Amino acid sequence: MTEQAEIGIFGGTGIYDSGLLTESKEITIDTPFGKTSDSITVGIYKGRKVAFMPRHGKKHTIPPHLINFRANIWAFKEMGIKRIIAPSAVGSLKEELKPGDVVIPSQFIDFTKSRKYTLYEDNKVIHISVADPFCPELQGVISKVTKKMNLPIHKDATYICIEGPRFSTRAESKFYKNVIGADIIGMTLVPECQLAREAQMCYVSISTVTDYDVWADKPVTAREVLETLSKNVGTTKNILSMLFDEIPQQRGCSCHKAFEEAQF
Ligand code: ADE
Repeated sequence: MTEQAEIGIFGGTGIYDSGLLTESKEITIDTPFGKTSDSITVGIYKGRKVAFMPRHGKKHTIPPHLINFRANIWAFKEMGIKRIIAPSAVGSLKEELKPGDVVIPSQFIDFTKSRKYTLYEDNKVIHISVADPFCPELQGVISKVTKKMNLPIHKDATYICIEGPRFSTRAESKFYKNVIGADIIGMTLVPECQLAREAQMCYVSISTVTDYDVWADKPVTAREVLETLSKNVGTTKNILSMLFDEIPQQRGCSCHKAFEEAQF
């Protein structure tokens, strides 16, 4: 039987190992969609069985548009994982969302172009609702722990997901900011978030701001993202470590019922 776990973490840019797990081992899982981003580290953290997978691979070799999101989600589902915590690096489209800040999105807008958006392609048509794509219970737990930590966060943000791997033009960035009104921008939330819902797993994003994107004067560069990122990684790991004390044993949300009204 496949190694089981309760909570899964998809490490984002800068987070290639959780650094939290004890009694850990590496496993690989074959999926109908091909290879996962990397092997999965499974171990114990605060008495809970946790799995960790870096979505860009341990050596950051997989660009956002080539991540095998379906394989990653399928593997976590196969492990019996019920909840996914998804740290990611994002650009800011709002003056008040500063580099280093933590943002918890509650909505996304999909500007990706060429990804695989469903786990169900053969003989099954599934129309999952993503009206509220993130788990409300996990969002509440993050609010609670960050308050305890005295760490200010920005809630209810809208994340616009672009295809990448390039950054936006100035015109695109101003369009996302001024016309669409999105708050943060990144390249990896879609379809990871919606596939988790299809798999009836809870999903929450912990987005940390690395830059002001290009609507501000200075174009964003990969180097700038990396520099801020190294500071943000510590914050994300602190939140993760507090989070595990507070996540309830049983799920009190309706994420596990996503399938009920998704078929004709
Ligand atoms: N990830 C981090 N910063 C970003 C930006 N400005 N645009 C898209 N993805 C990002």
